Amino acid sequence: MARLLLLAQATVALLSTPTLAHIPRGVNIKRHITELESHYDYIIAGGGTSGLTVADRLTAAFPSRSVLVVEYGQLVNDTAILQPAATVPNPRYAFQILSQKEPGLNNRSFTVTVGKIVGGCSAINAQMFDRGSAADYDAWGDVAGEGYREAGWSWAGLLPYFKKSTTFTPPTKDVAEKYDYTYDMDAAWGGDGGIQAVYPPFQWPGEKIIRHAWNELGVPTQKEGSGGDAFGVIWFPSSQDAQTQTRSYARTGHYDNVANRSNYHLLVGHAVNDLVLAEASSGEEQWEARGVRIQAVDGKNASVITITSDQEVILAAGAVHTPGILQRSGIGPKDVLGAANIPVRLELPGVGQNFQDHAMTNLFYNLTTNIEPNQMSLFMNRTLMEQARREYAQNKTGPFTLSGGNSGAFLPLSTLSNNSQAIINALKAQSPSSYLSNTTHPTVLEGYSHQLEAMKDLLSSNEAAVFEYPIGAGAMVAFLKPLSRGTVNINPANPTAEPLVSYRTFTNPLDVKLYTEGVKIFRRLYTTPSAKTLGPVELTPGAAVQTDAEWETWLKRSVSPSFYHPVGTTALGPKSRGGVVGPELKVHGVGNLRVVDAGIMPLIPGTHTSSTVYAVAEKAADLIVKDGRD
Ligand SMILES: Cc1cc2nc3c(=O)[nH]c(=O)nc-3n(C[C@H](O)[C@H](O)[C@H](O)COP(=O)(O)OP(=O)(O)OC[C@H]3O[C@@H](n4cnc5c(N)ncnc54)[C@H](O)[C@@H]3O)c2cc1C
Ligand SMILES: *[C@@H]1O[C@H](CO)[C@@H](O)[C@H](O)[C@H]1NC(C)=O
Ligand SMILES: *[C@@H]1O[C@H](CO)[C@@H](O)[C@H](O)[C@H]1NC(C)=O
Ligand SMILES: *[C@@H]1O[C@H](CO)[C@@H](O)[C@H](O)[C@H]1NC(C)=O
Ligand SMILES: *[C@@H]1O[C@H](CO)[C@@H](O)[C@H](O)[C@H]1NC(C)=O
Ligand SMILES: *[C@@H]1O[C@H](CO)[C@@H](O)[C@H](O)[C@H]1NC(C)=O
Ligand SMILES: *[C@@H]1O[C@H](CO)[C@@H](O)[C@H](O)[C@H]1NC(C)=O
Ligand SMILES: *[C@@H]1O[C@H](CO)[C@@H](O)[C@H](O)[C@H]1NC(C)=O
Ligand SMILES: *[C@@H]1O[C@H](CO)[C@@H](O)[C@H](O)[C@H]1NC(C)=O
Ligand SMILES: *[C@@H]1O[C@H](CO)[C@@H](O)[C@H](O)[C@H]1NC(C)=O
Repeated sequence: MARLLLLAQATVALLSTPTLAHIPRGVNIKRHITELESHYDYIIAGGGTSGLTVADRLTAAFPSRSVLVVEYGQLVNDTAILQPAATVPNPRYAFQILSQKEPGLNNRSFTVTVGKIVGGCSAINAQMFDRGSAADYDAWGDVAGEGYREAGWSWAGLLPYFKKSTTFTPPTKDVAEKYDYTYDMDAAWGGDGGIQAVYPPFQWPGEKIIRHAWNELGVPTQKEGSGGDAFGVIWFPSSQDAQTQTRSYARTGHYDNVANRSNYHLLVGHAVNDLVLAEASSGEEQWEARGVRIQAVDGKNASVITITSDQEVILAAGAVHTPGILQRSGIGPKDVLGAANIPVRLELPGVGQNFQDHAMTNLFYNLTTNIEPNQMSLFMNRTLMEQARREYAQNKTGPFTLSGGNSGAFLPLSTLSNNSQAIINALKAQSPSSYLSNTTHPTVLEGYSHQLEAMKDLLSSNEAAVFEYPIGAGAMVAFLKPLSRGTVNINPANPTAEPLVSYRTFTNPLDVKLYTEGVKIFRRLYTTPSAKTLGPVELTPGAAVQTDAEWETWLKRSVSPSFYHPVGTTALGPKSRGGVVGPELKVHGVGNLRVVDAGIMPLIPGTHTSSTVYAVAEKAADLIVKDGRD
């Protein structure tokens, strides 16, 4: 998203110097360990997208039980967070970790960006609020195996939670007609959850042209993209408040309005280091979680403090940080723990493995006869910028209501290429072990072989997208169905430092072949009658790239491993398939311990991930409440 993001960042800089309003003094906000109780009923590690959602539901369900959320970042009232825009996140609100050298991407390293603020990634994301296809979620139940689909790990099982998590406000008739917005209330919406979803009252006129260009390539427009049919040209809402046209996120939807509950404490500026474990008294578990050890992150006081829990510890630190909490507690792959001199409490080979994200790249076209105004005009034309700023301030309409965009072409492999059967045959001929890291445990390999089975079906399906082409973001493409798998493990030299992140993008050689099909289509798109009216001239990669081999070379040089969607590092599934959590999101072998964040997704769905994280968190909250009542 590089170019778009940089431009958008410039807008925000022009728009407003971010103001840091003074921090609210709710009854429950805590900044020092001395302000806490010594024990709580529930402790949640991470006050991000999933953690705040679960905390809201638990504090409501059990008024007489206490809940502590421990969050690394701060509670920040910065108007720039509320202003819709697809900006590069302010580094003050994000972890920025340097990845390992990526062997499939010419040994380049990349910045791993995830939220570090109350609200987590939902405070800094581009508000693109879509869902995957039904087949993407049905595959979760299939790869996890017996008992998981029955427990609701499928599209049908998750749809009620997608609906519950969100309040969708339909566009007015005028706005819907102006932009051709379509939706289907029954198929996708109708809930009253804390997260607000809208179609903004503005789109650039060029958006329609690119949508039509995809239609001319034979890609049909869907009426509703969020009803399990996220393929074709689709509309999707922004996570945004209809009244104020500002960002709706975990903090506004699940914290601000419930912050004064007397059973709710939020500790900011502190990291959960590891778990307090006790030998299990009975049952199948070997250990029981009895609390957490935490530390202030400002470095002024290195003391590690223990806070105990009577009911459960809930891990919600995200796919990049939850594995470290488990591994530092002695729960994880034996070799990783051994290298860091951490005694093994429980060998759980899947922790930190199975890492997935959506690799992305951009081509560049000079649209020599582009329609005015467009995104660029905003930066070239001060008058337009001023007008847009006034319009947003006065009327909550106009270009500043747009964040990352609301439409995209989501293409199955069959739409993209006549080579799809050849690629699927090559996949069928692959031995699953060949391309994973050579330290991969046999159970993780077993899980991966089930994923490849599901992947053959997903790549063959006409109803599951393999590439996303966001509309309104230039010639950008994200790869939704990667075969390569990475790892997120603690640093053996310093286990409390940031983790070692290896995306391992393109380490399965079929991925770059798939991606080649995914990028070549731009040359067909930009020769459709609609797109031609914009006078496109390809600047990057340009005429020198013609053969598949040339495309592959270019891709290894230009692809970024992340579309900001890290998942999979504490996957749903049985231990025999490398899973970390069972069907109720309980960590295998450890009582009173669950994971509720993006890490539990066993296969990355073909969508931006926030709405799926909210749905999973809603389901998790239901499971925890049900157990708490028994
Ligand atoms: C820049 C960016 C753009 C994105 N754009 C979109 C988009 O447009 N649409 C979309 O749907 N998705 C988008 N995403 C992805 C989406 O927002 C995430 O998948 C989702 O929010 C993750 O939720 P989570 O609960 O798993 O983790 P998070 O929301 O990251 O929450 C984890 C929290 O845990 C805290 N934490 C970490 N370690 C510790 C510790 N040891 N102790 C205590 N606290 C800790 C973190 O500070 C954070 O607040 C984007 C993400 C980013 C980073
Ligand atoms: C901080 O933001 C919240 C939510 O927008 C608002 O309710 C609160 O009044 C703000 N507090 C301060 C001190 O500005
Ligand atoms: C990447 O690094 C490895 C190990 O150092 C080396 O063998 C390989 O040739 C490098 N690849 C490229 C494309 O430079
Ligand atoms: C929290 O604030 C709301 C709105 O101001 C109020 O109705 C409610 O009684 C308060 N709850 C507590 C527990 O103080
Ligand atoms: C550090 O924190 C611990 C626990 O709260 C406290 O006992 C100690 O006095 C603190 N040290 C300093 C120097 O503030
Ligand atoms: C894009 O096209 C315009 C109009 O032909 C031209 O003036 C401009 O120099 C081109 N820009 C680039 C980067 O090629
Ligand atoms: C700049 O924007 C204003 C307001 O929309 C418009 O009237 C004007 O024609 C634009 N100028 C140029 C050079 O495009
Ligand atoms: C706000 O809306 C009103 C009514 O449509 C309109 O007259 C006015 O020009 C708008 N303000 C701006 C700054 O666009
Ligand atoms: C597939 O082949 C047909 C017939 O040769 C051709 O018309 C079509 O454009 C091709 N499709 C793709 C995606 O290359
Ligand atoms: C794994 O591969 C690395 C690098 O190729 C090698 O150094 C190491 O010995 C291998 N480990 C095993 C267990 O085969």
